[in-house]
Amino acid sequence: MYANSRHIVSNQQHLHPRLAAVVARHLVTVSRKPMARHNIQAFEQLQRRLQLSPRALVLDSFCGTGHSTVTLAERHPDHLVVGIDKSGRRLQRHPPLRPDNCLLLQADCAAIWQLLAARKLAVDYHYLLYPNPWPKARHLQRRIHGHASFPLLLQLAASGRPGRLQLRSNWQTYVEEFGVALHLAGVRGSVSRVSAAQALTLFEQKYRDSGHSLWQLSADGGRATP
Ligand SMILES: C[S@@+](CC[C@H](N)C(=O)[O-])C[C@H]1O[C@@H](n2cnc3c(N)ncnc32)[C@H](O)[C@@H]1O
Repeated sequence: MYANSRHIVSNQQHLHPRLAAVVARHLVTVSRKPMARHNIQAFEQLQRRLQLSPRALVLDSFCGTGHSTVTLAERHPDHLVVGIDKSGRRLQRHPPLRPDNCLLLQADCAAIWQLLAARKLAVDYHYLLYPNPWPKARHLQRRIHGHASFPLLLQLAASGRPGRLQLRSNWQTYVEEFGVALHLAGVRGSVSRVSAAQALTLFEQKYRDSGHSLWQLSADGGRATP
């Protein structure tokens, strides 16, 4: 199929000059956002599923329609695979058939990360597939690695089990920034190009069909040796 989606246009051509300062500030600040009721209710849904069938977790944060969550549930049959997105409109477009080990939550990702981290719940694999790029330089702090919730994500990855992180985007700069932010936090990772056949989400498929490359940061959650 031929498509013609535009490439990311940004007034930022390289890593953001304030990246290190912003990440360093967040790494020493505890994020204390008040928790909205609907996020607590979504988390309670997750807890009920774990009580019924205790399993280790896989997160598909910013899952959109949850197509990737279904694929990941098939890939991780022994885990509970949880797709999280704040948009009810997107989630309503989920695939009709979902495996038993797949749960979709309408919630803010940072809130669910905060609740998981507070209960020291282990996340074995964490996928962040095509997050909103926020390409304007002034929007650095809306990107995952520039946001105050970034340390929460690290707590999940670094908890007891060897959490593995995968972030993917068609904007190479975003992926590299995420890798540098992880490095500043002492977590190893590497950037690579993903083969076109491996698109997991509707956004990834759309940009692949327009000929864009897909970039990936993979980290094993392990701490870098000093
Ligand atoms: C570019 S879309 C990608 C969706 C999906 N991963 C894909 O590739 O098809 C980004 C998604 O992030 C969701 N989102 C943005 N900020 C969020 C937040 N703080 N918490 C939960 N979802 C969020 C949006 O609703 C949107 O569905």
